Amino acid sequence: MSTVLFVKANNRSQEESVTVKLYSTFLANYKAANPSDEVIELDLYNEQLPYMSAAMINGIFKVAQGMETTAEEQQLADIANRHIDQFIAADKVVFAFPLWNMTVPAVLHTYIDYLNQAGKSFKYTAQGVVGLLEGKQVMLLNARGGDYSQAHMQAYEMAVNYVARNMQQFGITDVTTIVIEGHNQYPDQSAAIVERGLESAVAASKQF
Ligand SMILES: Cc1cc2nc3c(=O)[nH]c(=O)nc-3n(C[C@H](O)[C@H](O)[C@H](O)COP(=O)(O)O)c2cc1C
Repeated sequence: MSTVLFVKANNRSQEESVTVKLYSTFLANYKAANPSDEVIELDLYNEQLPYMSAAMINGIFKVAQGMETTAEEQQLADIANRHIDQFIAADKVVFAFPLWNMTVPAVLHTYIDYLNQAGKSFKYTAQGVVGLLEGKQVMLLNARGGDYSQAHMQAYEMAVNYVARNMQQFGITDVTTIVIEGHNQYPDQSAAIVERGLESAVAASKQF
């Protein structure tokens, strides 16, 4: 039995959002294929996610060092640590997120800020950063209205790249990505593009 964390970074309705369609399709099919797994849904828009700040940085540092904190530092460190501990405890993590303004929604950026803690998710060495979370499996589910598949567009895509590079920094090498793209750029093919993407999600949910 695995513990699987589903992280959702879009609170639009399923009718409006391709990301949410991807999320729901993958989740339902994963659950059907793995009925004994523990599935935890984390809807980032339902969470209090304070921005990384001086008080949070100091709180995380002081808690890690066993130092005394202020009430505010402790409260902020507790929020970040609750999220990183949940992430570390999961055997598998599924992220669902749109491309918004070339990057991820701010809630996902903040959540990933919490996951970046030296000594927990990675460590610094003379050879560079070394990840500490090997062995975890990650699925990235993303939708983007434009077509970023051509080389000249790839530098403008800072959502999948951003999340994937963070997973790499944590030492997670088993990362699968499903992207639905171009459904806004090619309106005449929109329905078929989305349909094909959802079929890929069904197939991937059975392998994950
Ligand atoms: C606020 C906002 C910003 C967006 N920015 C981009 C963008 O930078 N590039 C792009 O190709 N599509 C962009 N889109 C379109 C989305 O990528 C597209 O709707 C996709 O399906 C993901 O969003 P959804 O899950 O809400 O449908 C944007 C959409 C919104 C609502």
